[in-house]
Amino acid sequence: MDCFRKDFPFFSSHDIIYLDSAATAQKPYPVIEAEKEYYERWNANPFRGSHGLAIKATELYEDGRRAVAEWIGAGRAEEIIFTRNATEALNLVALQYASRVLRPEDEIVLSIVEHHSNLLPWIRLAREKNASVRYLVPDSDGLMTENEIEKVISDKTRIVAVAHVSNVLGCTLPVQSIARIAHKHGAEVIVDATQSVQHMKVNVKDLGADFLAFSAHKMTGPMGVGVLYGRYELLEMMDPLFWGGEMVGSVSEEGWVLSGIPHCFEAGTVNAAGVYGLQQAILYLESAGIGRIREKVDSLARMFMEGAASESHLHILGSARPEEHNGIISFIMDDLPAEDVAAILDGESIAVRSGYHCAQPLFEHLGIRQAVRVSIFLYNNEEDIQRTLDVLLRIREMVS
Ligand SMILES: Cc1ncc(COP(=O)(O)O)c(C=O)c1O
Repeated sequence: MDCFRKDFPFFSSHDIIYLDSAATAQKPYPVIEAEKEYYERWNANPFRGSHGLAIKATELYEDGRRAVAEWIGAGRAEEIIFTRNATEALNLVALQYASRVLRPEDEIVLSIVEHHSNLLPWIRLAREKNASVRYLVPDSDGLMTENEIEKVISDKTRIVAVAHVSNVLGCTLPVQSIARIAHKHGAEVIVDATQSVQHMKVNVKDLGADFLAFSAHKMTGPMGVGVLYGRYELLEMMDPLFWGGEMVGSVSEEGWVLSGIPHCFEAGTVNAAGVYGLQQAILYLESAGIGRIREKVDSLARMFMEGAASESHLHILGSARPEEHNGIISFIMDDLPAEDVAAILDGESIAVRSGYHCAQPLFEHLGIRQAVRVSIFLYNNEEDIQRTLDVLLRIREMVS
């Protein structure tokens, strides 16, 4: 099995079993070194100043934009806007695009598995615009027939915002079918790819995404950088959300002329070192190979699910097929609150997450309060899974 672990310095200084990559991924050497290198060698404020270093800093930042555009199959680099995280990217679309086009009585279609970051901006907007929200309800494998999608998306639908991969069930939603049906009814499609870009090849055109958002930190990149892809014609309809330095071409006492797209959406000093780190994260994932990462994650997920099957009090949410989990396995245990399970694992130096994972409507729909989530990534190994299973299989004894 591939040993990517040696690329991650975190594991040389800790004896922690890290199974919380869906919250944030550990960083490989090239990403950590890139941020350091930026501040040691290239630190200047991009877009400001005509000295050589400022020009170099601008070039590095724009190289990062091109790398992201190419990586997700965007038609042009200008379609990539850097934000602080996926949450900011999704809010930007809701506030500056959807709020312009949404009319009273229109419908926004979401899925029941959404993370609050792709839920709250839309519920709030619907309330403000007197529009309504409808939900697609995939089965636990993430599946929905076209018939079911057609029952929810109609000519009343103006916006469809869905996760590509659920951060709780790990299932992949049929975004291509959803987008095709949404477009037939004249709606735009926003894809939250925060849990998918690190597990599969994402191409905005193949998916049919009009907008797509993700965070660098979940794909081994730095915290503090998010990406919003938007089709250029749609970005042209948007006003900036933030106003200030370097997002205007000229300012007079009476008014302003905006900078071009995408710079008009990136007011103030940008996270240049973070974007440089993100570019290295893309290179790292590409050289590791998404197919090899997938193979490893799926095989560890299989090991976990097969091992957990011998504990009859442990119930895995979602598909019974490990390869449909994108490394994300949530479970509940009879009579043992999720936070207690997570605390016991933590006592054994095993980091997992418990709670409703910022997806409360999904938990209401499933009729459960909380779950434990194990999330596996390329640096995990069989020993991590075995040690976790060992604790889970004797956890009831430990409690009693
Ligand atoms: C599916 C999904 N969307 C959006 C987010 C929000 O990401 P961030 O906190 O980086 O903005 C998360 C974070 O867990 C997520 O899992």
